[in-house]
Amino acid sequence: MDHDETEQSSTDVDALARRIDRPVVLVGMMGTGKSSIGRRLSALLHLPFVDADEAIEQAAQLSISEIFERHGEGAFRDGERRVIARLMDGERKVIATGGGAFINPETRALILAKAITVWLDADIDTLVERTTRKDTRPLLRQGDPREILTRLRDERRPAYAEAPIHVTSGRGPQARTVARVLKEIDAWL
Ligand code: S3P
Repeated sequence: MDHDETEQSSTDVDALARRIDRPVVLVGMMGTGKSSIGRRLSALLHLPFVDADEAIEQAAQLSISEIFERHGEGAFRDGERRVIARLMDGERKVIATGGGAFINPETRALILAKAITVWLDADIDTLVERTTRKDTRPLLRQGDPREILTRLRDERRPAYAEAPIHVTSGRGPQARTVARVLKEIDAWL
């Protein structure tokens, strides 16, 4: 296994952390591992971690499924836009966004202007495998999850592709994806 793909010395990471002057925002489809990769990044960089979906749930005092059921997707998207605008306060932190957040043009422009934006991508088999472990995503209950994921991934790709940093999260260890994200941020800054 390639050493620099799997780990990096803490001095390298500390030096990179000092150069990070904005929030790091992870965007991309559900099932790419934004939340778990984000948690690992935040621990390595010694920065706070915020899961935007959890922040929306806290603000609404409802789960995402409940928001969709009781108020509809439009209300969820409104809440998502407001929560992300609030999180873009210039503070250094790592933020995992829900898969649809970056598709809103206003939210996308705000994130691109204020953050270091990383698009995490994965192939369809990986997305299907990772999203079927939990039944917490209302959009995937509307039909065949593989078809929905394939359609959304195709529709959303042009928006995600506006992110300046693109990392594919494969089936290998998450530490490898984390190392790639760090390397790409380092190269981009
Ligand atoms: C959504 C993704 C979910 C969540 C909601 C809608 C989407 O977040 O925000 O179910 O539109 O792709 P994850 O990407 O964290 O699963």
